Amino acid sequence: MDEAVKAVLAEYHARGAKESEIQNRVSEEEWFNRRDEFLISVGRDAAVLLNILAKGAEARTILELGTSYGYSTLWLAEAAHKTGGKVISLDIGAEKQEYARNMLRKAGLAAHVDFRPGDARETIASLKGPFDFVLIDLWKELYIPCFDLVYPKLSPGAFVAADNMLLPEYCRPGALLYRKHVRSKPDIDSVLLPVGHGIELSRYGDMLAS
Ligand SMILES: C[S@@+](CC[C@H](N)C(=O)[O-])C[C@H]1O[C@@H](n2cnc3c(N)ncnc32)[C@H](O)[C@@H]1O
Repeated sequence: MDEAVKAVLAEYHARGAKESEIQNRVSEEEWFNRRDEFLISVGRDAAVLLNILAKGAEARTILELGTSYGYSTLWLAEAAHKTGGKVISLDIGAEKQEYARNMLRKAGLAAHVDFRPGDARETIASLKGPFDFVLIDLWKELYIPCFDLVYPKLSPGAFVAADNMLLPEYCRPGALLYRKHVRSKPDIDSVLLPVGHGIELSRYGDMLAS
């Protein structure tokens, strides 16, 4: 991995460690109410998995739903750099995307990311696709509506990875609904991976025999 990317990752990991200390000090309610202040990223294990999958699939058009401060964006952009592709990263928080843009610039990967501020539902509707790889990592009530908007625009063999299927615990009922919904769609194979906060990994096209 490039030294500039490593340096930016170290910066994210240091910020993440500081924020974990805050998380341990404050109530769950306070953490939830202040959630826009924090990275709340997919974490390193899940990010590495996403990077490996996107590279393995030679994904060229990668759609990220939920930039936050750009941690997962960095890992996806590193994959896009290798596949000659691009990440389209969506978040409602324009100021968080500005932070992410600066980090990606420092890592030398800014040319591989197209940041789109705004409500993801409106932005997805305006995008043509097809998408080869999608990360869904927004506030949880948006998973099903966003999946439904993305589904008709998936390329054959596309992956959709959805985070927070197991943790935090309060996300579990919504995660279960999402997993049932995705698995009810034609041409989708899907499996729950206990990596990071739990990832539902789905692949579109030429289904396995059940
Ligand atoms: C868990 S964070 C994403 C973390 C990021 N993927 C990472 O691993 O670093 C979820 C993000 O979804 C964004 N979000 C919430 N509602 C949204 C909406 N309607 N449209 C776009 N983004 C939204 C929030 O602003 C927040 O930054």
